[in-house]
Amino acid sequence: MSTIAEIKATFEREISSCTSVAVIQDLKVKYLGKTGELTALLKGIRDLPPEERPTFGAKVNELRNVMESTFSEKLTQLKRQEMELSLKNEKIDISLCEMKPWGALHPVTLVKNEICDLLIAMGFEVLNGPEIETDYYNFQALNIPYDHPARDMQDTFYLADGILLRTQTSSMQARYMENKKPPIKMVCPGKVFRSDSDASHSPVFHQIEGLVVDKKVTLRDLKGTLEYIASHLFGKDTKVRFRPSFFPFTEPSVEVDLTCSNCGGKGCSLCKGTGWIEVLGAGMVNPKVLENCGIDSAKYNGYAFGMGLERIAMIKYGIPDIRLFFENDQRFLKQFGK
Ligand code: DAH
Repeated sequence: MSTIAEIKATFEREISSCTSVAVIQDLKVKYLGKTGELTALLKGIRDLPPEERPTFGAKVNELRNVMESTFSEKLTQLKRQEMELSLKNEKIDISLCEMKPWGALHPVTLVKNEICDLLIAMGFEVLNGPEIETDYYNFQALNIPYDHPARDMQDTFYLADGILLRTQTSSMQARYMENKKPPIKMVCPGKVFRSDSDASHSPVFHQIEGLVVDKKVTLRDLKGTLEYIASHLFGKDTKVRFRPSFFPFTEPSVEVDLTCSNCGGKGCSLCKGTGWIEVLGAGMVNPKVLENCGIDSAKYNGYAFGMGLERIAMIKYGIPDIRLFFENDQRFLKQFGK
């Protein structure tokens, strides 16, 4: 009986000075574990004279119950304390955070995202293609042979024999059509390069190319798509006008004008008094291009269009010089932050 009392006294002392969850686990093992002190007492009952066993057993069990409930109460209490402490210590003091000014998307990116979103909603797939391109995909597959005068329209940076910096995102047409059979609805935004530089030409600029190939595609489908894009970019009253033109990869080819977003078509300095602004080239895909890519032009036809993103952004935001897009002047770029 005196041993029970001694164990109880040490237990009470130890548990009351216990301040961590880890220590309490150790204490539990020390008393109630397989080789614990109280367990040893319980095992020792069988060595006692039979008449002493019931009282002794009852006392040991009583102490065990006390210990178990004390351990669980203390454990809950310590866990709560530890949680409170860590919440207090690990708190992130956001009041010390220095607010940096927000960055902004580049105006070309804004226009690109806007056009891509519109086309994605119409079921187009967005692709990226290589900026270093072969002569084949940039020209020949698009019905522009080596000696074709149409090459003069694009002042090309040639890198090595048969390799160049792409002059147009149209280069993705053949790359895509070689591997994918109709129906095709793809759009490819990206950088293009030409040896040309002034207020409205930059050696690097951005285009977005659209291509649809299916059965019975019409020029009217093309116009509808462009009207949809134009009305979202420049307002719902914007009109689209087709003028006959020539591109080797489309037949017929058109130059596409929009009513001037500045004067609404009345005539101003931006549209040089005409009321119209030329924005892109387009047309029905030349059957030769389809055949070059292994698509049966008797069964399928399509339309394509390509536009310069800087040009769109210049009209939309009233930017007078293309070079502003590439100078990275924060005063210019900041104006497009939301
Ligand atoms: N790639 C042409 C250019 O850079 C623009 C263009 C015209 C793209 C007609 C087309 C098209 O897809 O059908 O001038």
